[in-house]
Amino acid sequence: MRVVVTGAAGFIGSHVVDAFSAAGHEVLAVDAPGRSPTPDVARRTWARVAARPGVVAAEIDLAAHDLGTVAAADVVVHLAGRPGVRDSWGAGRAVAERDNVLATRRLLASCMGRPARRRPRVIIASSSSVYGSAGRRPNREDDPLSPASPYAVSKVEVERLAGLAARDGLRTVLLRYFSVYGPRQRPDMAFHRFAEAALDGRPLPVFGDGRRTRSFTHVQDVVAATLAAAAEELPPGIAVNVGHAEPVAVTDAIGLLTGVLGVRAEIRREAPVAGDAERTWADTGRARRLLGWTATTGLAEGLADQIAWHRELRALPGGVGGRPPQTGRSEEVRVG
Ligand SMILES: NC(=O)c1ccc[n+]([C@@H]2O[C@H](COP(=O)([O-])OP(=O)(O)OC[C@H]3O[C@@H](n4cnc5c(N)ncnc54)[C@H](O)[C@@H]3O)[C@@H](O)[C@H]2O)c1
Repeated sequence: MRVVVTGAAGFIGSHVVDAFSAAGHEVLAVDAPGRSPTPDVARRTWARVAARPGVVAAEIDLAAHDLGTVAAADVVVHLAGRPGVRDSWGAGRAVAERDNVLATRRLLASCMGRPARRRPRVIIASSSSVYGSAGRRPNREDDPLSPASPYAVSKVEVERLAGLAARDGLRTVLLRYFSVYGPRQRPDMAFHRFAEAALDGRPLPVFGDGRRTRSFTHVQDVVAATLAAAAEELPPGIAVNVGHAEPVAVTDAIGLLTGVLGVRAEIRREAPVAGDAERTWADTGRARRLLGWTATTGLAEGLADQIAWHRELRALPGGVGGRPPQTGRSEEVRVG
C-alpha cells in the first residue's frame, strides 16, 4: 500500500510513520518542520523519520505548495496541523486557521481532483476538544459538538470540510484523538512539562486545580487505531473516538508520574486555560465495533514508557536535554 503521512515530523505522525514502515508499506512522509511551534524538535524528528526503511520524506507546506504528490496514494493519513488550545487564543489562532483549516481544505481538494477510482482514502486527525466538556457519561460520536476554543473551532471546521468531501464521494474518516502521551510528546503538553520539571527538581506547573479529568491515551494505542482505520473500508465522513475508556484526574496522573520517577514533587498552580475542557471522556463503542480497537495501555505503564524516553534524551551527549527553544508558556521544559 502506498501511504502518505502528513505531520510526519510531529509527535503522533512520527510514530505512525514508524508503524507503517515496520509493516512494510511504501510511505511518503510529509511535513514542513518550520511550521511546528518547536521547529528544532521537529527537524530532529524529521531526520529520524527520513532515515526509516521504505520512507521518502518530502518537505511540503500543505497550506501553500502543490499537493499533487500528496494525493497520489492509496491512503493519506493527515496529522499535520497546529495543535494546542492555549496558544490558539493568541497568535496561534491565525496559525490554526492556516495549518488546520486551509491546509486540510487544500489537501481534500487535491484528493477530490483525482480520477474517481484513484482517489485515496483520507484519515484525518480531529480532537476530543470538539465536544467541549463531557457530562455525566462518555462522549459518543453523535453528541452535539461544543467547541470552546479557537483550536477546537478549527477542528470542527476540519470535520465539516471532511463531511462535505465525503458527500462528494471522498472516503474520509475523522479520528477524534484524546490527550495523547508517550515518547516524543510535544513540549507544550502536560506530561512532558511535568516530567521535565520533576527531573530538574522544579515544581510541577499545573493549570487549574488539577481536578480536570482526561481520557489519557498512549501513543502506541493511537497508532494502532490509526492503522486499523487505514486498513478498513469505513462509512465516508464517519468520526471515531480514539481515547482511553477510563478518564483519570490530572492530580492522580501526577501521583503515578512521580511514583514512577521515585520523587516527591511540589505543585505550582497556574491560571486555568480558557477553553480547556473540565473533563474529556471517550465512549469507545464505535471504535470497538468498526476497528476492533480499544486502548490497552494503562496510565502507569504508559507514563513509565514516556519517562524512560525523557531519561534517554537527557543521557545523550551534548544534552539534547539542553535548554529548549522558548515557546509560549513551555519555557520551563527542555527540548524533547
Ligand atoms: N497530541 C494530542 O494529544 C492530540 C489530541 C487531539 C488531536 N491531535 C491532533 O493530532 C495531530 C498531530 O498532533 P501532534 O501532537 O503530533 O502535533 P505535532 O505538532 O507534534 O505535529 C504536527 C506536525 O504538523 C506539521 N505541520 C504544521 N503545519 C503544517 C503545514 N502547513 N504543512 C505541513 N506540515 C505542517 C508540523 O511541522 C508538525 O511536525 C494534530 O492535527 C492535532 O491537532 C493531537
